[in-house]
Amino acid sequence: MCGIVGYVGYRGAPEILVNGLRKLEYRGYDSAGVAVVFDNEIKIAKTKGKVNNLAERIEKTWSEKLQTKATTGISHTRWATHGEPNEINAHPHLDNDGRTVLVHNGIIENCRALKARLLAEGHTFASETDTEVLAHLVGKYYKTDLIEAVCEALSKVEGTFGIAVLAKDKPDEIVVARKGSPIVIGVGDDETFVASDAAAIVAHTKNVIYLDDGDVAILTAGEVEVRTLENSPISREVSTLEFDADSAEKGEHKHFMHKEIFEQPDALRNAIGGRLDKDKATAILSGLSMSPREMAELRRFIMVACGTSMNAGLVGEYYFEDLADMITDVEQAAEFRYRNPIIGSQDMVLAISQSGETADTLAAIREAKQKGALISGLCNVVGSTIARETGRGVYLHAGPEIGVASTKAFTCQVAVLLMMALKFGRGRRLSRDVGQKLCAAISNIPKYAEETLKLDGQIRDIAKVYAGVEDVFFIGRGYMYPVALEGALKLKEISYIHAEGYHAAELKHGPIALLEPRVPVVALANDVPGKDKTIGNIEECKARNSPVIAVVTGDDPCVDGLADHIIRVPETPDVIAPITVAIALQLFAYHIAEFRGCEIDQPRNLAKSVTVE
Ligand code: M6R
Repeated sequence: MCGIVGYVGYRGAPEILVNGLRKLEYRGYDSAGVAVVFDNEIKIAKTKGKVNNLAERIEKTWSEKLQTKATTGISHTRWATHGEPNEINAHPHLDNDGRTVLVHNGIIENCRALKARLLAEGHTFASETDTEVLAHLVGKYYKTDLIEAVCEALSKVEGTFGIAVLAKDKPDEIVVARKGSPIVIGVGDDETFVASDAAAIVAHTKNVIYLDDGDVAILTAGEVEVRTLENSPISREVSTLEFDADSAEKGEHKHFMHKEIFEQPDALRNAIGGRLDKDKATAILSGLSMSPREMAELRRFIMVACGTSMNAGLVGEYYFEDLADMITDVEQAAEFRYRNPIIGSQDMVLAISQSGETADTLAAIREAKQKGALISGLCNVVGSTIARETGRGVYLHAGPEIGVASTKAFTCQVAVLLMMALKFGRGRRLSRDVGQKLCAAISNIPKYAEETLKLDGQIRDIAKVYAGVEDVFFIGRGYMYPVALEGALKLKEISYIHAEGYHAAELKHGPIALLEPRVPVVALANDVPGKDKTIGNIEECKARNSPVIAVVTGDDPCVDGLADHIIRVPETPDVIAPITVAIALQLFAYHIAEFRGCEIDQPRNLAKSVTVE
């Protein structure tokens, strides 16, 4: 969480920084700030709220000269951890003497102990943040060599950080460092950029260096020198970004979420494209780097993930059990590492993460590696920490997902998990005949997504009816159970309606007590195993006078005359239904949130990448 942008070059830094922050607002948006070095002074502007407030503040209070001639600066958009979201707690933070200034993404876990020591030495603090403690430490060690001071300060710190630091007597230099929070450096002609995510850089350069944990770097105009935290030189390769600036823009869409929902046919095409071998009736996922024998010998497949990615994993669990004939588990990543998971060299642990930066998922995969399991990643963001640390896996190729509510990542994750199950299944006991049918079904996914999107107007009409409710239940069985969880997650995070996803059978073990006419139930009665029983559960909901919005397959009349509203997703093989139904539920959540006037792309209290535990 939190986004960092820095610039050193020949152009006015404030505009570049503010525009970069706009691309990172998905990482946090409760306050923002900029610091530049100009005339051997550090100038800072900070505001509560969104980046637009900061842009206005700079426009109104900074001279034209400062805005255009300050060519080195750092900036930050915040998701509060220590201290409430206000102007004082906003980054950048100065050291005790005002000689250095710092922005930070992460958490300094031993900040209380460090602060106590600094207070005893006479330091005074303005904010409640852990970041200011780190800023004071850097200042304390700063004599003439900024990187030396940063390395010294970081050696005292426990926790995670992605930082950028300026010193007022070094107007042409930024020092950056990372441990646990991403830092990507963009190398241009006579200018250098740094950010938490390449989306903030791609408009300026496609040549980037991803720092690894424990790296520190000195950035000057067009030059980058990477060192270890022990201050020894180290080399890092320059990679080329594979997306362009337009893919991180909203275009004609009102919200990124809307754009990303409607991009799904293309995103799915990219996720699937070139990955099916119809002849051999299998999937080609070379990034897994496993021989058929290694696949056949695996004892267990474990997926670790959070939020929407975990819901995709739960769909994948059905695929792996049904098609790959493998013992499969899905683990909430945050819990996995604090339990004592019984894993070893015959187990594969797959981290599923859109961003590839989720702290809990990263920690889980590190734990699995430590215990000797094979680790792999299913990530969307190329070059992300999880993708690099796992070293093997599959990219989604869904394109940048900016909306905080994950949409296209979910459907692409499900599609890729289906291809993985096909591949593992073909290496084990899955017949060629079933493999071929699956290949045909998978290659039609983009078309099914397109057909589902045509339901938009109808789903909007239904959403209008329910936009005023305060509680909603989502129920499903089999493949539809995780989709019910995902539907509820989507609705609650963007509309602030209390929504719960339940297994349809579980309703009567407690939640049914809450059903009444003001509590609608979204029932997933698609043509998958368990449908008839779900219809029985719909009867139970109707008997308690709850309105029912049923999702069914094609023209299926199974809930005609029973459900209050029916959403008919296209007829597909049952393994594809999680994708079409998820798209329908994304539209449902989107329109309800729109009718309620919610901030769809930036829901309160949330951030896109959760990089703290
Ligand atoms: O980047 P990741 O896939 O690891 O993120 C995991 C969750 O934080 C994420 O899916 C979150 O639940 C979304 N806001 C859901 O829409």
